[in-house]
Amino acid sequence: MSIEKNSPIGVFDSGVGGLTVVKEIVKRLPGERIIYFGDTANVPYGEKNAEELIRLADNIAAFLVAQGVKAVVDACNSTSAVALEYLRERYDVPFIGVIEAGVKGALNATKNGKVGIIATRPTIESRAHKRLAKKLDPGVEVFGQVCSLFVPLVEAGRVSGPETALAAEIYLAPLLKKGIDTLILGCTHYPFLAPVIGKTMGSDVTLVDPAENTVKELEKLLQGQINDNGPRTFADHEYFVSGDPVSFKDIGEKLIGASLGRVNQQLL
Ligand code: DGL
Repeated sequence: MSIEKNSPIGVFDSGVGGLTVVKEIVKRLPGERIIYFGDTANVPYGEKNAEELIRLADNIAAFLVAQGVKAVVDACNSTSAVALEYLRERYDVPFIGVIEAGVKGALNATKNGKVGIIATRPTIESRAHKRLAKKLDPGVEVFGQVCSLFVPLVEAGRVSGPETALAAEIYLAPLLKKGIDTLILGCTHYPFLAPVIGKTMGSDVTLVDPAENTVKELEKLLQGQINDNGPRTFADHEYFVSGDPVSFKDIGEKLIGASLGRVNQQLL
């Protein structure tokens, strides 16, 4: 399929997490138009199994492809881990996930070869990060940790405060014991918690947000077909959610620190 320069880019996640990737697109590819889908009626994806995640990702992909997108960024680690290959085979539009970007970022950053990955249960259980990291660098040690409460905290806009700090302390203690020097934020919601995660891990541990490498990959994929009709702000993009658009707009704007413009409800 030929990529049309002025067509939008689809981005999806279970909720507000994918806005961390939108932020990077706005920064690096400011002329691009984005159609964002947040599956807030089904968040958290961390509670779903692989089969359910494939079905949900497929419905969203069908919606985005029907909007005429030139590429789709699966800005959700949970669906990137289990559904990406399926989506790539099924649709005639290129799909980019966030796993590879996180792993490559971490391998670049680590000095002692001990890397932590925090993510949802389906992402950790898929072992997608671990497998890829070992393939690229067999000597690396990868330690995974499920952080189930992080997504509900971010979706509620509670990115700081005692409850969030305590959750971080409990989840991150085992990784601190392993002596990791690099930590992949393996869920797109987690960069919103970077201050509390960074404080808990200490300044010797590098936090890797996959958004930057993901958007570099997107830039490479688009090659000569980058839309340079910009710059556009967050408010110039189209947002669709399966749940309540008012609360998505409210929390999303608070987290991102910018206006999101119109948020539409779209049931799939
Ligand atoms: N932000 C998604 C991820 O990267 C999904 C989180 C969730 O809904 O549990 O995994």
